[in-house]
Amino acid sequence: MSYIETNYKVLILCLCLIAALDGSDPLYYKQRVFPLMKDKSDSKFGFFDHETESLSHNEFIKTCGPMGQYPFWNVSLSWEERVKDLVARLSLEEIQLQMARGGAGPYSTPAPPISRLGIGPYVWNSNCHRGDQGAKENATAFPQSIGLAASFSHQVLFDVATVASVETRGKHNDFVRRGVYATHTGASCFSPVINVVRDPRWGRIQETYGEDPFMSGELAATFLDGLHGDNQRYVRVTGGCLHLDAYSGPENIPVSRLSFDAKVSDYDLYMTYLPGFKRCVQAETFSIMCSYNSVNGIPACVNKRLMTDILRKDWKFQGYVVSDEQALEFVISTHKYLQSFEDVAAAAVTAGVNLELSADMPQPVFLSIVQAIEQGKLSEAVVRERVKPLFYTRMRLGQFDPPGANPFSRLSNNDVVTPAHQAMALEVAKKSFVLLKNSNNFLPLKPSNYKTVSIIGPMADNYDQMFGNLPPMQSRVFAKTPLEGLKEIFPSLRYKQVCEGETKCTNFSREAVQELVNGTDLVLAVFGTGPAVEAENNDRANLDLPGMQKQVLEEIMEHCGTAKILVVLMNAGPLNVTFLDVDPRVQAILECFFPGQATGDAIKEVLINTGGNSSPAGRLPVTWPLHASQIPPITNYSMVNRTYRYMQSLPLYPFGYGLSYSQFSYESLTSDANVKAMENLSFEVTVKNIGDYDADEVIQCYISWGRSDLPVPVRQLGHFTRVHLKQGEEKLHIGTISWQRWAFWDKGLWQVKKGPMTLSCGGQQPDQTKKVPSNVISTRFYIVNSASTTDEL
Ligand SMILES: *[C@@H]1O[C@H](CO)[C@@H](O)[C@H](O)[C@H]1NC(C)=O
Ligand SMILES: *[C@@H]1O[C@H](CO)[C@@H](O)[C@H](O)[C@H]1NC(C)=O
Ligand SMILES: *[C@@H]1O[C@H](CO)[C@@H](O)[C@H](O)[C@H]1NC(C)=O
Ligand SMILES: *[C@@H]1O[C@H](CO)[C@@H](O)[C@H](O)[C@H]1NC(C)=O
Ligand SMILES: *[C@@H]1O[C@H](CO)[C@@H](O)[C@H](O)[C@H]1NC(C)=O
Ligand SMILES: *[C@@H]1O[C@H](CO)[C@@H](O)[C@H](O)[C@H]1NC(C)=O
Ligand SMILES: *[C@@H]1O[C@H](CO)[C@@H](O)[C@H](O)[C@H]1NC(C)=O
Ligand SMILES: *[C@@H]1O[C@H](CO)[C@@H](O)[C@H](O)[C@H]1NC(C)=O
Repeated sequence: MSYIETNYKVLILCLCLIAALDGSDPLYYKQRVFPLMKDKSDSKFGFFDHETESLSHNEFIKTCGPMGQYPFWNVSLSWEERVKDLVARLSLEEIQLQMARGGAGPYSTPAPPISRLGIGPYVWNSNCHRGDQGAKENATAFPQSIGLAASFSHQVLFDVATVASVETRGKHNDFVRRGVYATHTGASCFSPVINVVRDPRWGRIQETYGEDPFMSGELAATFLDGLHGDNQRYVRVTGGCLHLDAYSGPENIPVSRLSFDAKVSDYDLYMTYLPGFKRCVQAETFSIMCSYNSVNGIPACVNKRLMTDILRKDWKFQGYVVSDEQALEFVISTHKYLQSFEDVAAAAVTAGVNLELSADMPQPVFLSIVQAIEQGKLSEAVVRERVKPLFYTRMRLGQFDPPGANPFSRLSNNDVVTPAHQAMALEVAKKSFVLLKNSNNFLPLKPSNYKTVSIIGPMADNYDQMFGNLPPMQSRVFAKTPLEGLKEIFPSLRYKQVCEGETKCTNFSREAVQELVNGTDLVLAVFGTGPAVEAENNDRANLDLPGMQKQVLEEIMEHCGTAKILVVLMNAGPLNVTFLDVDPRVQAILECFFPGQATGDAIKEVLINTGGNSSPAGRLPVTWPLHASQIPPITNYSMVNRTYRYMQSLPLYPFGYGLSYSQFSYESLTSDANVKAMENLSFEVTVKNIGDYDADEVIQCYISWGRSDLPVPVRQLGHFTRVHLKQGEEKLHIGTISWQRWAFWDKGLWQVKKGPMTLSCGGQQPDQTKKVPSNVISTRFYIVNSASTTDEL
């Protein structure tokens, strides 16, 4: 045995002893002491590489005596046996602590170690919608979720989730090595957010995948696959879908989400608000978060129908439900539904909550679990069941196996913001952009055509607002604003901040605008919202551009003479830009959402079509209304007249809309002529790039019902995919549409009625007045029989 190993054994023994003496956790000591040694040590203490660390872990477990012998540490047993063994060894006090410490802040996190069993602490609270959000230190910042959805690309969601989870896990591993257990340092993500967008004013649109329940569910499933990784035994990080349920505004206008009661019909629940969550369960999400609001009178986090009857009984969910931050307290303070912590603890645990996300309270609600049991309000057996998924999740993260067995334990800070990740941030940002207007093929730009160029608007050089809510932390050196990116093609770009109050644009200087645009050939107008205007707990009262932004744009149009105007928008929820859409002085409108670190480069590359293959191809994941009167009250949860599925009137820009530098032709759509009620439809369609550029195209196929007597949407997206086609290239696309898309919920059943159906494929919805130049092609098929089922699909 070498000198190093000998010393190492002595060190471990000392740690075990100290831990045993003061009753704390030896692993905790190990994590604290090793880094100190590392810092102080010279090369002869070089046993901190991952190989030896895994060795040392085993050694450690063994040296620390009987605790290493417990069956729950035994890798030969099944997860179920191990979890069962572990939980049987816990006292109720220990269990309630584990269930109570899922929160944010030093009181609420981490879930404490259980020293006598050798179990370490764990932080449950992380966000990874598009990078490791909120954790200290660098992370790659991809576009905010709504932009990811706009890519209409499974690959994009998968790639972003993969990188986000690599970085989250890498940082988590390093935090644990350094003994850091602060908020957002865990490996369990509160991502993705899949609430369906039903009101364009909702503040959290940016965190979602848009208004279609099927698409939200598909993208969520893909995202979860990317987070989890493809190891059979271990997961890289664990994903969780937010927020169950009927949570899509209001946040704060006109009432607080913390007391709001969403009145939802079963029809809308099953057709719109639940399907995405069901898809998450099918994709083996580890967790679900219950929401702040009430659903039909019962706060979501004590709602047994949602969390037990539907989630666990109908869908067979095996994971854990975490309450939204402080939601359990709000059951008392804002919903006034129950009066005491014991009652809420009993109601929440019974209804299905496993983990409390408290808001840094020394005494969170779940520390009343034992009392609730003693008072006969809660069953001990249920509590013991509820804690199991928490340990199962940690086992799947590899915490109870030797780290060397787990490939994800080798990830570290070295895997964060790598050149490859940064390159991907640029590619993904480019894929998220949606071209809304492009008069006379104004774009792509030829920079040499313009001598004098101005950039103007509150988003032109606004580093703070281009990431969206709760951004991954960044060093400034990794990011470029639009101004910084566009300077690289227009070196003498003229710029001045003209708005007061940044994106809120509470006032502006007319003189400055006039001076900026007078005599220019091209005006790059970069406008929008940012999280200062729309965010969690921050709805918009209407869709107007914030403050005086519209007046600034009008000032530009009035004074720019013959200059061309290109509008770049950075926002999440729809904006009222009808005046820009119809005005011939505005040549083009490019919607960019919140593109993250690559904002400047992505805008630059798309505008000039860098590499000949940077045509925008994103599509709107949310309908942009034309008139304010098309928007029902945000407090009304009926889907009537909401989203492309139920709207009876024409929008400004439809769901699925987006232009390309190129043009596509759809031909030869064929499908099964007849299909049984519960069989899937196969189809094929040829798509050809008939324009002047290589480009991506989003193929969208919708179904609609020929019968007018059924309670069904106007149409339903049934299939989507994003393909790349070189100029002149054609591809045969083969797809299927699941029968679940034409089933509808009625009278407590999923029903299919026989009758004629239409299938339409193209780069957009059929029958639109706002059209892209490509065609939409349709065919008929026939459902030959009626059927119904009580089974959850
Ligand atoms: C681990 O479990 C296997 C299978 O039950 C058993 O054969 C083995 O003895 C166990 N190992 C220890 C160290 O208890
Ligand atoms: C973040 O990245 C920047 C640029 O590479 C570097 O200077 C900084 O030290 C990094 N921060 C941390 C905490 O690693
Ligand atoms: C807005 O700005 C203009 C010119 O910069 C100034 O004259 C005017 O007083 C300002 N208005 C308000 C309400 O601050
Ligand atoms: C632009 O500037 C020129 C020269 O300074 C001036 O004569 C002209 O009135 C200005 N035009 C506008 C629209 O402000
Ligand atoms: C947009 O603004 C116009 C003019 O004020 C108004 O008539 C229209 O209703 C607005 N549309 C939306 C969607 O708010
Ligand atoms: C909500 O909207 C639906 C559809 O427009 C309507 O039938 C219903 O009466 C509204 N509910 C309330 C409470 O206003
Ligand atoms: C739905 O919208 C249509 C068209 O704008 C309108 O005629 C109808 O009254 C609306 N329905 C409800 C219930 O508001
Ligand atoms: C229909 O498609 C769904 C979803 O893709 C799939 O799970 C199911 O197995 C398919 N059903 C049949 C009968 O092929």
